[in-house]
Amino acid sequence: MTSEGFAGGRAASAPLMGHETEPTMFELSVPGRSAVQLRTTGLAERPMSEFLGPEHLRDTPVVLANLSERDLVGHFTRLSARQFSVDLGAYPLGSCTMKYNPKFCDAVAGDPALNSVHPGAPAALSQGWLELLVSLEEKLCDITGMAAATLQPAAGAAGELTGLLLMRAYHASRSDVRRRVIIPDSAHGTNPASVTLGGYEVTTVPSNERGLVDLDALRAALGPDVAGIMLTNPNTVGLFEEEIEEIAAAVHEVGGLLYYDGANLNAIVGVVRPGDMGFDIVHMNLHKTFATPHGGGGPGAGPVAVSARLADFLPGPKAARAADGTFEWRRPARSIGRVHGWHGNALVLARALAYIDVHGADGLPRVAQHAVLNANWLRQRLREVLPAAYDRPCMHEAVLTASSLKAETGARGLDVAKALLDEGFHAPTVYFPLIVDEALMFEPTETESPQTLEALAQALERIVAQARQDAQILQHAPYHTPVSRVDEARAARQLVSTEDAALR
Ligand SMILES: Cc1ncc(COP(=O)(O)O)c(C=O)c1O
Repeated sequence: MTSEGFAGGRAASAPLMGHETEPTMFELSVPGRSAVQLRTTGLAERPMSEFLGPEHLRDTPVVLANLSERDLVGHFTRLSARQFSVDLGAYPLGSCTMKYNPKFCDAVAGDPALNSVHPGAPAALSQGWLELLVSLEEKLCDITGMAAATLQPAAGAAGELTGLLLMRAYHASRSDVRRRVIIPDSAHGTNPASVTLGGYEVTTVPSNERGLVDLDALRAALGPDVAGIMLTNPNTVGLFEEEIEEIAAAVHEVGGLLYYDGANLNAIVGVVRPGDMGFDIVHMNLHKTFATPHGGGGPGAGPVAVSARLADFLPGPKAARAADGTFEWRRPARSIGRVHGWHGNALVLARALAYIDVHGADGLPRVAQHAVLNANWLRQRLREVLPAAYDRPCMHEAVLTASSLKAETGARGLDVAKALLDEGFHAPTVYFPLIVDEALMFEPTETESPQTLEALAQALERIVAQARQDAQILQHAPYHTPVSRVDEARAARQLVSTEDAALR
């Protein structure tokens, strides 16, 4: 070995250190390498045009990375070791309910008896799956206080659109033309987007000084052209809408429907039911409350449950119990059609059923109670460090504000969140809800212990003390993560697609 070779750097496959970057798959690519060995049939040597018409053939070969299985496993394992995850530590990302979930649920989803069944298999050959879907639908209806549900929507926002299409179908069936949907100003951005996609106009109602829907402003906004209202309860400020019964009565009085955005169901699961509050349509984010970790974009599931008067409009086909006790696919009488290519993200549905069953009727309320207790403990513990936006008991998330810290030291909420990464905690949600200045939204969830919450509080105390001493240092945090402060707007403004990157 020459001395040059000896000093020639680390092997491409060595574990990454500090700020080193992992090469892209294209940079690791070696021509001719492959992760699969296909059986030689002789077909590959024959020209493609023997099998496909010219309109289906590409002019140029597709650019793909050539990697062995070994290369791929190394690449993704090295990348995964640079990530923060719920398995590694606390992930208090408000409104997202990023909680640790029992590995049992993953084991269920990994069972080949479930995951080797094709969704197009005839009902007679997939009775177990149909029973699972029926059982999940029944349990979700029990939890929400609704009559029937669709399991098809693939995420919360897909559930919202489904719910709005159901609202539209319901009003259309009564030849009742309505134009507007009401949304509070604290709502998640997907709500107004779904309203627009559903063909309605958004009317925004302001929150009052207590962070709740301003009932007088709502009453003033209501009219015969209002199709419904979209609400999440507890709302995105983490507060329970105490006047929900008055809100429901006012909306129903003008013939509107109440849509429940179930992103915050973790706060009330097993304790209070949206159906009992007066809601007509409810979506649930199974990937939040019921067991699927959802970092990195999915997969998720956003089932929509409805009251009896909307059941006939649900997407179909739906798994249903036949008169002879077997299970079959059935299309609701006035179905709006499909909202998913098949029956929904099936393994997320299987995880959710496992989660509900493993907790049982006694365990589910404890999920909500501990989530609320943890958030209030943190809010109270941080009282002198970062005050709550609204000084009163919260539900499952504590919305704090760095407004006075910024005025005093110049350190922003973003700086505090980034500095938390150096302390070994995932950053909270920042600058949401929009109605809170310098918002830091902590959702500790029920799965974190008092010791972890105390460590989180101490980390925040250190960060705030640092801000008071020298806030400039925080402006460049984090310092100890594989990637430090990035320009968050640039990626969206100067998009480099993967294919461009490969061709460079
Ligand atoms: C209040 C609220 N509504 C809706 C959504 C949308 O859910 P999804 O991300 O599953 O589409 C979210 C997501 O965080 C949310 O927090």
